[in-house]
Amino acid sequence: MSHSHEPVSISFAIVTCSDTRDLAQDQAGDALERLIADNGWTCASHVIVRDERADIGAAIVEACDAGVDVVLTCGGSGLSLRDVTPEATRDVCDREVPGIAEAMRYHSLQITPFAMLSRALCMQRGRVLVINLPGSTKAATENWEGIVAALPHAVKMMAGGGHE
Ligand code: MTE
Repeated sequence: MSHSHEPVSISFAIVTCSDTRDLAQDQAGDALERLIADNGWTCASHVIVRDERADIGAAIVEACDAGVDVVLTCGGSGLSLRDVTPEATRDVCDREVPGIAEAMRYHSLQITPFAMLSRALCMQRGRVLVINLPGSTKAATENWEGIVAALPHAVKMMAGGGHE
């Protein structure tokens, strides 16, 4: 089976979780916007929320309800006690897709041992995939690179398509 990109159009939402950044300084979120565009996909929304579990959960729900295929959270998945993005993700999602988080850490561990400090989850909320990415530009980009090849097939399967 080929894992090259299938021609699937994917719409994304970015939810950056940070106590300190605002939208004008969200370099990691901007880098994700560019990576999405580089693949010919669209970014429907890009917001910043504080590291508050309820606010992050609400932003994920809002993005899902707007009808995107994939919600990328950015930041708040480490060990600081203010990092609550995985908890917020679990609050509002239905079931885990552990292989995507495993793939991010597998790929990233070959770059830095700090990758093991990621508590990132990937979960489904209905037909939407919610993926926790780290908050630095370098880390967000590297984690994206570890999973991007599987996203078209994931979106196709969530839309109800089976394997041909
Ligand atoms: N993954 C890659 N590829 N490169 C990195 O530099 N940094 C790690 C990890 N994953 C890193 C990475 C670090 S230091 C942390 S704390 C976690 O991602 C979580 O990051 P976050 O708290 O910004 O979400």
